[in-house]
Amino acid sequence: MKKWNVAAIRAAKGKEKLGCCTAYDACFAAIADEAGVPILLVGDSLGNNVLGYATTLPVEMADTLAATAAVARAAKNALVVADMPFGSYQCGDDEAMANAVACLKAGADAVKLEGGEAFAPLVRRMTDAGIPVLAHVGMMPQSVNIYGGFRRQGKTREAADRVMRDALAVEKAGAFAVTLECIPSELAAQVTASVSIPTIGVGAGPVCDAQWLVMHDLLGLNERSPSFTRQYANLRGAVRDAFAAYVADVRDGVFPA
Ligand code: KIV
Repeated sequence: MKKWNVAAIRAAKGKEKLGCCTAYDACFAAIADEAGVPILLVGDSLGNNVLGYATTLPVEMADTLAATAAVARAAKNALVVADMPFGSYQCGDDEAMANAVACLKAGADAVKLEGGEAFAPLVRRMTDAGIPVLAHVGMMPQSVNIYGGFRRQGKTREAADRVMRDALAVEKAGAFAVTLECIPSELAAQVTASVSIPTIGVGAGPVCDAQWLVMHDLLGLNERSPSFTRQYANLRGAVRDAFAAYVADVRDGVFPA
């Protein structure tokens, strides 16, 4: 099976569409890796999907590092990207650099951070220091308090121009790919055509070079999922049935036999 690296991800633009997903632990990361998922993102969505928070904001570097190490131990072929948590790169570039280095030391091949033009100098500094960066523009969940909710971005002419400027700025700064989250699909198509690096869409329509799905949405583990996701299994039902069958077997004296 193909071993993915940053150069291979870049080279896939215009040739092969990539279905990428999040991973937060070694067990599921190993299965996704075996299935050929090219990028495993240790998303800060760890906060919502695993740690039980309402947003990604409470996630700490320690959470990200533990999850990244677990995923990296399991991934043989996928590129492992650590999503830098809120507060780990906004409080000063030196601290951001130290936290990005810690992600690579934990086993990540690259880091992801939210931000466009304003974060381009940091993206440049990281890439110059040998840290591949996957940028993230459009709707940035760590800015939920600025938006006043998880709101689709880029809907007006001015807002669309800002998303385009952000994507061009992070490309120029050296990002190897850019996430486009929750923007109109026409805008995602324009950005995809305007940048030389792959765009990875989430809620941004079908034209992007690649797609993200949160693993817990993909596998049907979550009680509710955003409308732009697709469920490829119903593990919530299967897992609940398994727990219920086990409890019943113990109660009825069927297990242990
Ligand atoms: O943390 C996350 O799940 C993300 C998405 C882009 C998939 O950032």
